[in-house]
Amino acid sequence: MSKKLRLCEVADVKDGEPVAAFAEGMPALAVYNVDGEIFVTDNLCTHGNAMLTDGYQDGDVIECPFHGGSFDIKTGAAKAFPCQVAIVSYPVEIEDGWVCIAKPEEAA
Ligand code: FES
Repeated sequence: MSKKLRLCEVADVKDGEPVAAFAEGMPALAVYNVDGEIFVTDNLCTHGNAMLTDGYQDGDVIECPFHGGSFDIKTGAAKAFPCQVAIVSYPVEIEDGWVCIAKPEEAA
């Protein structure tokens, strides 16, 4: 029964084409489709001022557009140098065809 934030419609997120999303009180978010499964992470690279949705998705890896670093879309873990700090990955719920995440204070 936690409050949910609606980010975008599932149908708008194509496999391999991450979508930028915004929600009140949240940092910039990125929504991904990996083989039909939806994932949400922070959009800002932990290495610099780059939006990961401007980067390149390859399966379950998102490569930053700036310095070739990358992250695991499913866990947020840093995968390639110079990225060393994980991005935040959010549990996703699909509701009425919308991609939703729980409001942080009510998550967990
Ligand atoms: Fe993303 Fe440098 S800003 S790898």
